Amino acid sequence: MNPIQIAIDGPASAGKSTIAKILATDLNFVYVDTGAMYRVVTLAAMRKNIVLQDETAVVAVLPDVNISFKPGNPVQRVFLNDEEVTTEIRSVDVTANVSVVSAYAAVRQAMTDIQRNIAADGGVVMDGRDIGTTVLPNAAVKIFLIASVHERAVRRFKENQAKGMDTTLEDLEAAIEKRDYLDSHRDISPLKKATDAIELDTTGLSITEVVDSVKHIIATK
Ligand code: DC
Repeated sequence: MNPIQIAIDGPASAGKSTIAKILATDLNFVYVDTGAMYRVVTLAAMRKNIVLQDETAVVAVLPDVNISFKPGNPVQRVFLNDEEVTTEIRSVDVTANVSVVSAYAAVRQAMTDIQRNIAADGGVVMDGRDIGTTVLPNAAVKIFLIASVHERAVRRFKENQAKGMDTTLEDLEAAIEKRDYLDSHRDISPLKKATDAIELDTTGLSITEVVDSVKHIIATK
């Protein structure tokens, strides 16, 4: 069992999941997409027509939410109970609502417990917003990935186009800025660089360049 935990945090669309997935494959580690977990909870609450501002009602959904992952190519498959929701959790609606749901203390505690359990034996690459600060504060490697809002919106725009999703660059930039603000201004475990994390600005860098930089950082640990 490999004891190393690798935490990759950063704002929306900074390339965390792309980089984390490649690293996990190359290192033969488990990859955990913690954003997907908050998206599944959000989807489950939306399906019950809950007013998402009603924290008590959202938290009451948690016992009915069982989240699991299965390997898939190119994306990891995500399940809500026994139903695959890989595509649905990336919808514009879920994306617009996830910051509200992920701000709730009981939601964060439930997700954090699951994440720590998965990571307990190490050999894990986990990406999110609070992995280096809260979930795995003792992770051997902590990376904080950033990129300009414009570049992140362009990346998301291309991904959406490839999926046949109809979004404009302006809307994506606005949505990313709003999510950055909400994620970094919430009370509990806000998006924040851990003091011992290494910041990497991926603006203008290729995926290979970023992966190589992260591998270099890992090698120095
Ligand atoms: O990485 P993502 O865009 O799929 O994440 C979706 C949302 O989930 C993000 O806006 C904030 C929240 N999130 C979080 O609060 N903590 C995490 N560790 C991961 C995601």
